[in-house]
Amino acid sequence: MHFTLGVDAHAKKRGQIETVGWDFETVVNPHMLIMGMSGAGKTHTIRSIIRGMLNTSEGMTRMPRVHLFDVHGDLASPKASSARISEQSPYGLNPLKINPDPHFGGPRKQIQFFLDTINRSTRRMGDRQEACLRSILVDLYAANGFYLDKVESWKLDDGRSRKYPKKHPTLHDAQRFAYHKLKSLYLGGDNKATASLEQLNKKVAKLNRLRKPDPNGEIEPEDLDKTKAEVIDTYSQYVESITTGRELEQYIRYGSKDVLRSISDRLENLAASGIFKNETPPFDDRVPVWHYDMTAISNAEQKMFTLFRLQEVMEEAYTRGPTKDLVDIVVIDEAHRYMSGDSENIIDTIAKEGRKFGVGLMAASQSPSHFTDDFLSSVATKIILGLDEMHWSTGARKLRIDEKLMTMVIPRRRLLVQVKRSTTTQNRYHLTLPPQEQNASGVASGS
Ligand SMILES: Nc1ncnc2c1ncn2[C@@H]1O[C@H](COP(=O)(O)OP(=O)(O)OP(=O)(O)O)[C@@H](O)[C@H]1O
Ligand SMILES: [Mg+2]
Repeated sequence: MHFTLGVDAHAKKRGQIETVGWDFETVVNPHMLIMGMSGAGKTHTIRSIIRGMLNTSEGMTRMPRVHLFDVHGDLASPKASSARISEQSPYGLNPLKINPDPHFGGPRKQIQFFLDTINRSTRRMGDRQEACLRSILVDLYAANGFYLDKVESWKLDDGRSRKYPKKHPTLHDAQRFAYHKLKSLYLGGDNKATASLEQLNKKVAKLNRLRKPDPNGEIEPEDLDKTKAEVIDTYSQYVESITTGRELEQYIRYGSKDVLRSISDRLENLAASGIFKNETPPFDDRVPVWHYDMTAISNAEQKMFTLFRLQEVMEEAYTRGPTKDLVDIVVIDEAHRYMSGDSENIIDTIAKEGRKFGVGLMAASQSPSHFTDDFLSSVATKIILGLDEMHWSTGARKLRIDEKLMTMVIPRRRLLVQVKRSTTTQNRYHLTLPPQEQNASGVASGS
């Protein structure tokens, strides 16, 4: 599998033809980063690279599957199998689906990934909200027959007979579950005990404040005594209101009404978004390119959909096991939108671990400055199509190249290409002339 990006401009000046190309057999890893300002030709380059790769995949055990995550609608192609993700379409993904793999799967990992992805894509949750949502999901999974520490329960077909077939809980189930908990906090027997417990916590906090050293002498000794008496009173009320004995546990697991309400609201909003559906997009298995048309959904939804889908792709890859083939190529335009600066990001994970499991990443973005050093150092192929001046100095610093090189790039006419190969220690950036420039200067294309 290979493709050509052009010829080395300096060599050509010396009268030599040095092809700047990419070959899956020799490249250190299949990941690529394509950088350029709007209009510099990122989409054009992605298309021509994919064309080149698919046209030359002979000798591979199977054609790689290309996943195009399209936010602008400019990656569409009549040759691709396309699915529109929108509020109206019945297709989406289930972010609570469990991977049954004993090493890579299970509810705990899925809950963590779910919390991280929600935090990265929408307003970050507070610690108490996160703890509440975690408890809801643990209980929801248990109610559906998936238990944290029972690996054999992570499969749908776990050999146990049931009245209704076992299924993965959905986001709608989570929302209903949280709402039910909230309702029982307001109306059920738990209500009085929880209210007293909340009161008790507030009073104890006040007591602790009063007990601190008081250099200004502002606290009256009576205040302290009064608060102590209130604490004892409230505690008695709490004990008397206990009816089921589970009130304290419930309180610890789900927090106060306010926290539970905020989580219930959050789940309702998530469930109402256009991406969490039970039906997966009906992609054609015989077509190598799958186009996820995300033009109709919001930025946050695009981000969540892509991150959850990438996780699924990676989980399938882990379950398949290590391979020398390239099985999946994920293409992410505007990749900086999905990055979050920490190395736990699924995109960083693909850059670091994808190669071993047959997953290649092709990311396009306006500048390298949006990416972590870890990510940049994991990607073997970098193509600079022309950055805005604003990004020259940080871009050059990030990529450890001379800023002068940046000034030599002319969008669509001269690009910078680095391909790290296992066959050479020479990893320099080539100033590269794409085919039409070679023609313009009298050099045959593809030579
Ligand atoms: N090497 C090239 N040769 C000829 N035309 C090109 C080349 N690169 C890009 N173009 C043309 O330039 C236009 C803009 O390119 P493209 O859409 O790929 O840019 P982009 O970097 O993806 O921009 P955006 O960030 O706005 O999506 C297109 O019409 C494309 O066909
Ligand atoms: Mg584009």
